[in-house]
Amino acid sequence: MHKESNVPADKISVAPKIRVGTDEFYDLLVNSDVFVDKSLLIKEVLEDSGKIILITRPRRWGKTINMDMVRRFLEIETDAGGNPLPVADIKLFTGGEIDLKLATGRKKLLKKLKIADYTTIMAEYQLH
Ligand SMILES: Nc1ncnc2c1ncn2[C@@H]1O[C@H](COP(=O)(O)OP(=O)(O)O)[C@@H](O)[C@H]1O
Ligand SMILES: [Mg+2]
Repeated sequence: MHKESNVPADKISVAPKIRVGTDEFYDLLVNSDVFVDKSLLIKEVLEDSGKIILITRPRRWGKTINMDMVRRFLEIETDAGGNPLPVADIKLFTGGEIDLKLATGRKKLLKKLKIADYTTIMAEYQLH
């Protein structure tokens, strides 16, 4: 049975949404309340002197998500028609409001990720 409570509505804790099972960086970033910013891995990958990097384990540690994050960072973002997005619309790493493409037009505010503080890397690899 539902108990009456004097706790104000904004103080009631709601379990965070955890996006279990996704292997897409965008999906995790946009749809999960639990997101750990591992974007500095991009810096490590770009600065690694080896031609190959072998990451074998552990399981469920974010390997696939992190590879997808690197892909999203390096690829040229396009709209649905395949046209490159203007720099101002590239927000996954720099943060800002993105359109969730719902009928209601609801938007989500993304936080700036740590890699966005590295201006040289951003200029050389992100902002086409
Ligand atoms: N940076 C992250 N922040 C929060 N959850 C994450 C993050 N990276 C991965 N996860 C969670 O862990 C799960 C396993 O990630 P995944 O990349 O598939 O691991 P692996 O490829 O190493 O087995 C994802 O489905 C997601 O729920
Ligand atoms: Mg995997």
